[in-house]
Amino acid sequence: MTTPVEGFSKLSKSEKINWVASNFTKNPKETKQLLERYWNDDIELQKLHDEFIENTVTNYYLPFAIAPNFLINDTLYAIPMAIEESSVVAAASKAAKFWLNRGGFKTEILGTEKVGQVHFIFKGSSEKLNAFFEEILPDFYKDASAITKNMEKRGGGISTIQLRNLSDKIDGYYQLHCTFETLDAMGANFINSCLEQFAITLKKKANGHPNFTDAEKEIEIIMSILSNYVPNCLVKAEVSCPIHELNEDNIPPEEFAKKIIQAVAIAKAEPYRAVTHNKGIMNGIDSVVLATGNDFRAIEAGVHAYASKNGSYSSLTHASIEGDIFKFWIEVPLALGTVGGLTSLHPLVKLALEILQNPNAKELMQIVAVAGLAQNFAAVRSLVTTGIQKGHMKMHLLNMLNQMGATESEKLQLVDYFKDHAVTNPSVKEALEKIRSN
Ligand code: MEV
Repeated sequence: MTTPVEGFSKLSKSEKINWVASNFTKNPKETKQLLERYWNDDIELQKLHDEFIENTVTNYYLPFAIAPNFLINDTLYAIPMAIEESSVVAAASKAAKFWLNRGGFKTEILGTEKVGQVHFIFKGSSEKLNAFFEEILPDFYKDASAITKNMEKRGGGISTIQLRNLSDKIDGYYQLHCTFETLDAMGANFINSCLEQFAITLKKKANGHPNFTDAEKEIEIIMSILSNYVPNCLVKAEVSCPIHELNEDNIPPEEFAKKIIQAVAIAKAEPYRAVTHNKGIMNGIDSVVLATGNDFRAIEAGVHAYASKNGSYSSLTHASIEGDIFKFWIEVPLALGTVGGLTSLHPLVKLALEILQNPNAKELMQIVAVAGLAQNFAAVRSLVTTGIQKGHMKMHLLNMLNQMGATESEKLQLVDYFKDHAVTNPSVKEALEKIRSN
């Protein structure tokens, strides 16, 4: 049995590697070699990555790819994506190309409101708390002014502070429910700093308040934290075209349009399908969010909460046929930043933003929503026509061949062969063995 380690974070990188390799892997020498293979020769770059988090032992690579030909509000974009799943970039590019000749994507920002809350317990009269809150409201703004000064200069800051009574859910539970405008910053640090200041103001003012009993003076702050549920930080992206332009190889346009409408209706009505439908959307969203150095966990949490906002988990995309016009759109909450965080630290994030023409946060929201919509269109298009496996397995072919140890020339021959043969694990194995036996 391995014993717990003391002061792991203070060990050198080599000591950390030795410890983990010798205690948790079968072949410590190979483990060490593998971890070191992923180090970068550029010492400065390696140091930068080491310092992003604690206890770094190596780098974990993801492919960084480009999906070209996205026409968004009449501007052409090449979208950087960081993702491991083999078919995602190809699918995005295919959808981008499809809509390139049909007017492209149109987008609209529906809101940019961020949210944070101070959760606290107050044992006393809620009327007195209401009156106290109204009285001290200006103090929240005043006491936080050192934090908000710069943001305000740029046009952002605290938007609203509300007192909410939730004591029917938990005895004595209230909150300050606050909204913010954080402009091009995702705003987590700004919001959390404001909230922690609000908590100090709340406690201090309650403590000295002449109308409060001793129990009422003892407001108990539980926590102050932003919310990743941002239903009013919302963006819409849309594609549309006359139905007859939905010309696909194997299916008449009217039938294709109807099947997409039905596929979306199923994802709206049925949570098992909705989760997978939205997972496909997140393939596009997460990969751009990651490439641009944003917090994909925050985005995931907020998006899925939004997908459940009507009480049942449902599709994030919508489709309609009005007259002869087919319309397909997404509405999605995306609290993104283009300044702060990793955006000026990680060289590839900086490059990703440069490739996107250094968007502001609102522009990035629109690009990311488009990536989600494109991905969903590509997935649903395959699902209602050829099925997903055809394209998916083609993209997976190279992974399989690499796993089977195929040489470059074997790969070339087999990629060619599988252009018109079904890709399965046994069929690839068999074809490789056949080449080798010739
Ligand atoms: C796979 O990563 C994503 C899909 O399953 C999405 C969908 O089913 O809509 C293809």
